[in-house]
Amino acid sequence: MSRDYNNIIQLINSQKDNFPLDQLFYVDKSIYELDLETFFYNQWIFVGHQSRIPNKGDYFIFSIGNESIIIIRESESQINCFYNVCRHRGSQICLETEGNSKKLVCPYHAWTYNLDGKLKNARMMYEDFDKKKWSLSKCNSKVFQGLIFLNFSNHPDDFNEFIKPLKPFIELHGLKNAKIAVKKVYPTNGNWKLTLDNFHECYHCLPSHPEYCQVHSKEYIQAYGAGNNTGPESKVFNKKLDEWNNKTKELGYLTGEFSEINFSNFFRSAERTPFDDNRLSETKSGKPASTLMGNFKNFDGGYTTIGTSPFNSLIMSNDFATTFTFIPRGPMKTDVEIMWLVDENASEGKDYNIDELIWMWNETTIADKRIIENNQNGVLSKKYKPGPLSTMEIGLEKLKNWYLNHLKKNLT
Ligand code: FES
Ligand SMILES: [Fe+2]
Repeated sequence: MSRDYNNIIQLINSQKDNFPLDQLFYVDKSIYELDLETFFYNQWIFVGHQSRIPNKGDYFIFSIGNESIIIIRESESQINCFYNVCRHRGSQICLETEGNSKKLVCPYHAWTYNLDGKLKNARMMYEDFDKKKWSLSKCNSKVFQGLIFLNFSNHPDDFNEFIKPLKPFIELHGLKNAKIAVKKVYPTNGNWKLTLDNFHECYHCLPSHPEYCQVHSKEYIQAYGAGNNTGPESKVFNKKLDEWNNKTKELGYLTGEFSEINFSNFFRSAERTPFDDNRLSETKSGKPASTLMGNFKNFDGGYTTIGTSPFNSLIMSNDFATTFTFIPRGPMKTDVEIMWLVDENASEGKDYNIDELIWMWNETTIADKRIIENNQNGVLSKKYKPGPLSTMEIGLEKLKNWYLNHLKKNLT
């Protein structure tokens, strides 16, 4: 990448505390490309759930920037992730976004690979051609609790170190025994950072999300709406949280929270908090939307929110999980992909109803798409200048500082 980094470093240094970023960060193509290299390609990011490919040979494609990854099931216990690039002359091999295939056959000259990536057939090659040397290139991957994580880096961070603080929060919910009830993509005309800025503050929740505000209390929204330590403390909520923590510990379920203390490659958070008003699940009525998942034998009235990286979130009631993957698609385009997961034995129509399940995050994400797109349009104006952040935008400020530090570290 040819670029005068001094200009970008100067720009980074000129960003003001408690203000959002300057326009260039939200519109510029070369900063966008630098972002992909620095951030998306260096994080462990989950791109799907194992239940999307239940049978041998089932696959789906995950693409980002110039990369396309084949995520394919080799056997009951093995999922493989390969770069979708033929080792002959580089054609893409899988052209459909999902399907089932017993072999991976390149459409160009028909080199054929097994599901483990090994080259099986290559026509008319010379006599001492060694097929063993021409297996498909693997993408770093890890299936954790059914979630399929990829890492595009040549030197990926240790997965165990990455997942360690989040592990108990995820394991509680039994996602390895879950299935996808619904998957939806919300293409959003906004830069990935503008999209995430919105996800990391709940200052906008009151004016923009009546459904969210119906489900969650004012005090929760103030203190925890964008995650722990992202808004002004609420004494009222803290009292509720203490009471609920005691009760939930007695039931034997996990309580507590995690947030990053020191600057690192990771940007993670997690917490368990109570719902208000005897609510059991994140639904319109407060009643369960499906059967209990994971370790839960009873509803504990709690809610688990986890950020594994800026590009992923898991938001979980006791009976279903809503997972988010934010995929940058261009300087001013981001796909927000949401999966709703339920227990693998739950059946649609009997145990769960799709409309109830998706109600809150579907409505909320449609509204987010609208406000992010309005934001992007305004940021494009010559009159856009970053304005002061409120006390409810600490999460956004944290994300911004992590972003700027990280980018600078990478450039210097
Ligand atoms: S490019 Fe794939 S077989 Fe030639
Ligand atoms: Fe929102």
